[in-house]
Amino acid sequence: MIDTYDTDKQNITASAQPAFDLDEFIVCMRKAAKAPSPAKAVRAEMDRYFEHPEAVRLAMPKFDTDEEVLYEDESISIFYCRFRPGYTIPPHDHQTSAVIGIYDGQERNNFFSTAGDNFITKSKSVDMQAGDVVSIGPHAIHTVECTGSTPSYAIHVYLGPLSRIERNLYDVEAEKVIPFTDADFHRLAEDNDIVA
Ligand SMILES: [Fe+2]
Repeated sequence: MIDTYDTDKQNITASAQPAFDLDEFIVCMRKAAKAPSPAKAVRAEMDRYFEHPEAVRLAMPKFDTDEEVLYEDESISIFYCRFRPGYTIPPHDHQTSAVIGIYDGQERNNFFSTAGDNFITKSKSVDMQAGDVVSIGPHAIHTVECTGSTPSYAIHVYLGPLSRIERNLYDVEAEKVIPFTDADFHRLAEDNDIVA
């Protein structure tokens, strides 16, 4: 989208892409988390911000890590997440609503059902790229895999203090549901060591 500003003295054509400000984003998300329908309010604001993924990409800090907590309190958690090519996180749930927005790269969210004879069965896949936003219900079971040749970068918003919520990991090989811990999360992740 292009806006043109005409004045008496000059004609300036500038991209209408708004600057992304992480502090403002966090304030906006905290407010949305207090709305009567917080999951819908967060989703609406995420949709608005991720209409301009390039603005988000340019403004986000360049972390050397795969995950950073950008903000967390009782009502909301906001994470930066990077997935490297060939990396797939294990099936897990959040026990709270989540909204994920991608600002660079490509990833695939796979959703699973516990219905049927199998331990878990893939029920749906959602391919995402920069600018896409997905909402995930509290009891949804999902994995995320980086499907591009470069890392995927996203902001994940959860309606609660994710680091303190008791939630589940699904150990497919052992066919066991186990409490979510960072150690087991990394143990069960698939890393095919593709170097971007
Ligand atoms: Fe997740």
